[in-house]
Amino acid sequence: MLEIHQLGVSYGAHRALEGVNLFLAPGEVVAVLGANGAGKSSLLKALLGLVPARGQVFLDGEEVTPLILQGRTEALAARGLALVPERGGVFRNLSLRENLLLGSYRGGDPPWEEILALFPHLEKRMPQRVGSMSGGEQRMVALARALAQRPRYLLLDEPTLGLAPILARKILETLPAFTAKGVGVLLVEQNAGLALGVAQRAYLLEQGHLVREGTPEALLRDPSVRQAYLGG
Ligand SMILES: Nc1ncnc2c1ncn2[C@@H]1O[C@H](COP(=O)(O)OP(=O)(O)OP(=O)(O)O)[C@@H](O)[C@H]1O
Ligand SMILES: [Mg+2]
Repeated sequence: MLEIHQLGVSYGAHRALEGVNLFLAPGEVVAVLGANGAGKSSLLKALLGLVPARGQVFLDGEEVTPLILQGRTEALAARGLALVPERGGVFRNLSLRENLLLGSYRGGDPPWEEILALFPHLEKRMPQRVGSMSGGEQRMVALARALAQRPRYLLLDEPTLGLAPILARKILETLPAFTAKGVGVLLVEQNAGLALGVAQRAYLLEQGHLVREGTPEALLRDPSVRQAYLGG
């Protein structure tokens, strides 16, 4: 279980996140919805110690707050957290194969079969320099690289951004293959309809505060959610 208590993030005087309580169980897909600037990326970055944070975080019962406060991203990754950031998340000057091998540098091979089942057309791209790939392909590589880490908790920051709708749906529909093995997925998505289609629970973030939490069905029924995220 990933447990987050009273998480806050400030950039100077600006409080981007305040008093956030959230949990993610193994095997769950949990969506975080929110408008631009609501603090979604700040939440994910805070969990890897990438931004100034406060609060408490436990990973499978072990407190990892000190690692977060000290910005020890590497140690947090070693404990099973993997982030697909909003942009980047790939080594542009390395080949696809090298990106995947680096993703799994802590030991073992990348789960080649699972990754290629997810992105079959990447197979031929293994020797290609990732910086020369299209934007959508680079998003796939970022996700594949995170999967190569064999994470226990996968934090996805708009993983389908810039992808064709059919591929975006395909990617999200493949998440159950990983959650079936006990991976917990925290999914930040612009596309609320898609995200609520794959999530078991969802949170709504507004101006740094979690204002709602519930099943996708409950959120889809909520008029304010429909208005703000699903075009009424
Ligand atoms: N490094 C930073 N320095 C100053 N302010 C920042 C920084 N990073 C984010 N912010 C501010 O914090 C707030 C939350 O940003 P964040 O990136 O977490 O939002 P978001 O919900 O991910 O938005 P989007 O949907 O546009 O990606 C925004 O107002 C943003 O301008
Ligand atoms: Mg963001």
